[in-house]
Amino acid sequence: MKLKLILGMFVLSLVASSFAGGNEPALIPQPQNIKMLSGQFDLTSKTKITFFKGGQDEAKLLATTLRKSTGYKLPVENSLSMPMAGEIGFLLLTNKLDSYGEEGYNITVFTNCIYIEAATSAGLFYGSRTFLQLLPPEVFSAEKQKGISWNVPAVEISDSPRFVWRGFMLDVSRHFFTKAEVEQVLDLMALYKLNTFHWHLVDDQGWRIQIKKYPKLTEVGAWRDDIGFGLASNSATAYDKHGRYGGFYTQNDIREVVAYAAARHITIVPEIEMPGHSSAALTAYPQFACPNAQIAVPDKGGVFTGVYCAGNEATFVFLENVLTEVAGLFPGKYIHIGGDEVVKSNWMACAECQARIKSEGLKNEKELQAYFIRRIEKIVNARGKNLIGWSEIREGGLAPSAALMDWIGGGAESAASGHDVVMAPTKFCYFDHYQSTNKLAMEPKAIGGFLPLKKIYQFDPMPTNLPTEFQSHVLGGQANLWTEYIPNLRKVEYMMFPRLGALAEADWSPKDARDFDNFKTRAAVNEKRLDAMGVNYRPLSKPD
Ligand code: ACM
Ligand code: ZN
Repeated sequence: MKLKLILGMFVLSLVASSFAGGNEPALIPQPQNIKMLSGQFDLTSKTKITFFKGGQDEAKLLATTLRKSTGYKLPVENSLSMPMAGEIGFLLLTNKLDSYGEEGYNITVFTNCIYIEAATSAGLFYGSRTFLQLLPPEVFSAEKQKGISWNVPAVEISDSPRFVWRGFMLDVSRHFFTKAEVEQVLDLMALYKLNTFHWHLVDDQGWRIQIKKYPKLTEVGAWRDDIGFGLASNSATAYDKHGRYGGFYTQNDIREVVAYAAARHITIVPEIEMPGHSSAALTAYPQFACPNAQIAVPDKGGVFTGVYCAGNEATFVFLENVLTEVAGLFPGKYIHIGGDEVVKSNWMACAECQARIKSEGLKNEKELQAYFIRRIEKIVNARGKNLIGWSEIREGGLAPSAALMDWIGGGAESAASGHDVVMAPTKFCYFDHYQSTNKLAMEPKAIGGFLPLKKIYQFDPMPTNLPTEFQSHVLGGQANLWTEYIPNLRKVEYMMFPRLGALAEADWSPKDARDFDNFKTRAAVNEKRLDAMGVNYRPLSKPD
């Protein structure tokens, strides 16, 4: 079998040159290297999927996906050799970590068989994602498609990502999305090899995760009188039997979503907002707010005064208990603790917060915020996790081992001082902004701003001028979807596509391989994939 491979490679290198710059498949994100070969592989009802030394889960997932659209029930078999004629072979080559890396893969489509090789199961998964994009777009349909020739062009692709954090954030507080809807979002991320789902579970308008020790967080904090934000009540379906708007995930739901994500090699980063944006929690447990503080209802025009009292020891006991349950549910390395937009007026008026400033020798409320985050960092670290927070956690000094998520700055500075950072600047990554300012485009209502596709495509997660020795601290880039004006999944999808492809390319593809016109050509093919999946998107034909 080795001989066949060597022979195959030889033929491959002879043929490849005649296809240089030829008609390449429309892959998103654009892989590192593509060599077109001649001919094609025909996927038929006789095709077998095999796995060699591992990759069984990836092989099975591929078979399940292919079964839906092709109707073929392809066998999945453990193999003792390289793939033979008619086989799609997954090869887990753990000894090749140096060449493939943690997430890289090779896929070689010969006319008679296909090799998907990687050193990790994640790499095999990404190889299988590329394989799906090599097939006709109809392969993404959930229904059996008739009259399609399931051909794959012969090609050799070697690929690995530029960044390790390829993120997407969904806010499920401003509007609630069910477990099934979240799983759909995870599938959409997997389409483009994104690997980090930042789940914004907590904000002023709703607490969405069951915490067993504090049942009122979801009994009270997960519900509000109406949909708010001036939206039509029938634009959403998340109502209880009393007509109240909201919802939450049980701990079992969370475990299921975590497993669903893991099968797609996606890590979930839960966000538990503090000390601000905490009206929902403080409505349920007002004893953790500063005494006499007002807890505003922000979607009714109030200011964001939902802030935990930093002078009250009970606040930290409460948050420690909450974070203990959260840490137990999410196997990933990071817990996001928010930290953005903390209104300090309550702290200024609170005797306990002022007493804390004095007793800790702090200069002001900004240092009180840093004190707060440092205490939370110790709690997070003691549970084997790392803390990550928004730009503002730099105020008053960044906690020692904290990672920063840059939305309004601080990323480059933090990386240069040895902290890990994720870049999600508003200028490139805020998918809640309008996709067009053209009145003729008739865009659905958004929060404001303007973030056209072309702008996202210009995003480089690596800050300019960051000295080389600090560049490894830049983990990658992330798109954020805040949902004040996004009450349902159709609209989530509309705001995600085609933008997520541009973001994925910023995170995955080599910088010098990026070309916007070329991307648009590929994105046009991708519209057909989204059509097959029944996913909503903003058509490329609409004006910017
Ligand atoms: C944020 O957009 N407030 C992080
Ligand atoms: Zn206080």
